[in-house]
Amino acid sequence: CGIVAYVGPRDAVPILTEGLARLEYRGYDSAGLAVVGRSGDLRVRKAKVRVGELAAELPARFKGAPGIGHTRWATHGEPSDLNAHPHVARNIAVVHNGIIENADELRAELTADGVVLTSETDSEVLPHLIARSGADELEDAVRDALSRVVGTYGIAVVDTRHPDVLVAARNGSPVVLGIGEKEMFVASDVAALVRYTRQVVHLDDGELATVRADGFRTSTLDRRATSKEPSVIEAEEAAYDAEGYTHFMRKEIHEQPGAVERALRGRVDLRFHTAHLGGLNLDPREAREIRRVKILGCGSAYYAGQVGAQLIEELARIPADAEPASEFRYRNPVVQPDTLYVAVSQSGETYDTLAAVQELKRKGGRVLGVVNAVGSAIARECDGGVYLHAGPEIAVASTKAYTSTAVVFALIALHLGRIHDLSPADGRRIAEGLRALPAQIEEILKQEDRIAELAREFAAYRSMLFIGRVRGWPVAREGAQKLKEVSYVHAEAYPASELKHGPLALVSPELPAVAVVPDDELLDKNLSTLGEIRARRGRVLTVGHRELGDDAIVIPKNEPELDPILLSIPLQLLAYHAAVTLGHDVDKPRNLAKSVTVE
Ligand code: G6P
Repeated sequence: CGIVAYVGPRDAVPILTEGLARLEYRGYDSAGLAVVGRSGDLRVRKAKVRVGELAAELPARFKGAPGIGHTRWATHGEPSDLNAHPHVARNIAVVHNGIIENADELRAELTADGVVLTSETDSEVLPHLIARSGADELEDAVRDALSRVVGTYGIAVVDTRHPDVLVAARNGSPVVLGIGEKEMFVASDVAALVRYTRQVVHLDDGELATVRADGFRTSTLDRRATSKEPSVIEAEEAAYDAEGYTHFMRKEIHEQPGAVERALRGRVDLRFHTAHLGGLNLDPREAREIRRVKILGCGSAYYAGQVGAQLIEELARIPADAEPASEFRYRNPVVQPDTLYVAVSQSGETYDTLAAVQELKRKGGRVLGVVNAVGSAIARECDGGVYLHAGPEIAVASTKAYTSTAVVFALIALHLGRIHDLSPADGRRIAEGLRALPAQIEEILKQEDRIAELAREFAAYRSMLFIGRVRGWPVAREGAQKLKEVSYVHAEAYPASELKHGPLALVSPELPAVAVVPDDELLDKNLSTLGEIRARRGRVLTVGHRELGDDAIVIPKNEPELDPILLSIPLQLLAYHAAVTLGHDVDKPRNLAKSVTVE
């Protein structure tokens, strides 16, 4: 979901609607606004529509400040007008991201006291609890209410009795303050703020902010004042616009040469054939003592982590594997001092990944972050790490952040490898391979028209198989993930080596396979798997370094260890064009949100 709030001399409404439109990619089954009108009244509009429609239907007199706005991605209670935010009680309006776990209890208590709740949401208890607090200051009333709540939240609150103030608080769901000239902003994501300011302050969990036009004050829930250093948003405002592209996903696919360039900038050492990663906070002696690497992330971040695990194991010869952070956090994992843990997240806010990091830290684990969003919760929680510098990724389906993550893992693998057993000659081979990536990605992108043609044909199937062996296996998984996310065509990824142990039974002319077949030492094995599929009259589209059959996408060759990074690019284009062919909302696939900040 998305939150935007404003306090200052201007009318909040255009700022809120503009900001919310920027956040729609996070969740968008309904939208709403509340502002304090000039006569001190509370004006609220909310509906099960997109922000654009809501804004278009606002009456001219719907003006005021301070104000709060929200786009919702339903968790409790189906998408509907009543369940949309803001939620209101008397003179108070609240927007909320997150989940209130004891909402049933609180709802029962409020109802028993005669309060009439009008929605099915967990969030609606918040304005009621605030309204009933009895405290004079809004800040204290919010504090009282939050002391009753178990769960996660990012909130913004307005109260008509305090028309010069906004209160915001964070616990597990991001809240950023934007500092303007005699005006202040609050949002769940810097994307909503770039148009107005570059100076931001990230709230920490358990922190509350009282925000006025001329400044802000922060404190913990138990009233201890905290001090905050503003940081500056890196990316240009244009980075948050589609800039002439029909979709953000396509724009971000095309941004990959530049994103990879930035991930590599200043980090490849061609003299000693290694990588410099200043933020790792790992001296060579500590690095030598690492016996295992465990990578954690969700969705595409997890698949990029799997590519990373493979790179680390191959180049540094340290046993490495990736696991969904969402599973790890629930299974009471064994945490060992000589294991290096790496959390991967584009947004830096995925709750499952953050919870895994927190669990690791409780158990004394050492965690590095591979994160795109600077200053995000996961980045701050980790003991060190590497930023992707991929720039903002807006489309729900990850493309450039996935690729940059894989590149950053290649750097980590090179760095650890040169401390462990990677020879200078192999170090040099990898360093040079890395530097060749941006131009090779450009080459692949030039094939877009042809890949789009293939996508139009393959979009007609109801289901597809994606296969790859060893280095190709995470590529196949990510390829299937992309197709599912944006085209809704069912896709199952399988290790090519496992095909004959089960899914071969499914192969038929109705079930085509996309096979990731690089020219490496496993080519022959892969060719025999392709033979098994063809013998069952299954159609095969190969992605690799040579024409292997009827349908083939041929891409430039890098070093075998780095080829997986390139092999994913055509599969992104395939998924994108399949989705366009089928007429789907590519950037905002149904049921998905860019960053899942709830459990
Ligand atoms: C959500 C998105 C996925 C994404 C995953 C991890 O589920 O829909 O596309 O890969 O979160 O996001 P993160 O920001 O942690 O990389």
